Amino acid sequence: MFYAFELEQFLGDLLPMRDELFLEMEDQALKETIPVVTPPVGNFLSWLVKVSGASQILEVGTAIGYSTLWLAKGLEGREGKIVTLDMNMDRATRAMEYFRRGGVAEKIQVVMGDARKILKDFPKGEFNFIFVDAAKGEYLDYLELVTPLLGNGGIMVVDNVLFRGWVVPGSEYAPKYERMVSHLREFLKLLTQNPELQTSILPLGDGLAVSVRKSP
Ligand SMILES: C[S@@+](CC[C@H](N)C(=O)[O-])C[C@H]1O[C@@H](n2cnc3c(N)ncnc32)[C@H](O)[C@@H]1O
Repeated sequence: MFYAFELEQFLGDLLPMRDELFLEMEDQALKETIPVVTPPVGNFLSWLVKVSGASQILEVGTAIGYSTLWLAKGLEGREGKIVTLDMNMDRATRAMEYFRRGGVAEKIQVVMGDARKILKDFPKGEFNFIFVDAAKGEYLDYLELVTPLLGNGGIMVVDNVLFRGWVVPGSEYAPKYERMVSHLREFLKLLTQNPELQTSILPLGDGLAVSVRKSP
């Protein structure tokens, strides 16, 4: 309904040409239908890491490391660390090889396992940038787990929050998506009403929620 593939394509065409490694990963993701961020979303993530000066980054949902490489691009020329996690060992292992080829492996720690278990043990307030892009049906769990990990002034970006525009009341979609749509609507309500955060929803890619943790 509101998801404009052509618009995303147009915005992607406006970007400077990406290097070989990015293009290879895009090709790989397409061939294997691995849902990675679009180039405009990747570029936005990189830009946001850069302008915010974020240095302690957490990513939930590595897949083959495409969005991680965009995040790492935002750290170019300065110190910083990315912790990225995924429960799919095969994908995470391939991501590590891409990080090595991209020359950024020393900045990235890959953690394999279920985010819903692992994140419980992460230190509170540790990160100044968090990117969430794992299972949409688990977004309420992630929200509870990652919000305390975000330090004051820290930025959290969540992907796919508009789910092809279907979260908008009155949208038409197949009945099998009803649970996911309801889950995302509930997630958006809780996120935007959280008094500790200020959130903007951007219709880039499949919809990005961008939140900043207010100072107390
Ligand atoms: C949309 S893909 C991530 C794409 C990646 N951010 C990118 O744009 O390049 C989602 C990933 O989340 C992982 N995932 C799903 N549920 C998870 C969980 N509970 N814990 C850890 N990883 C999970 C999947 O294995 C999958 O690789």
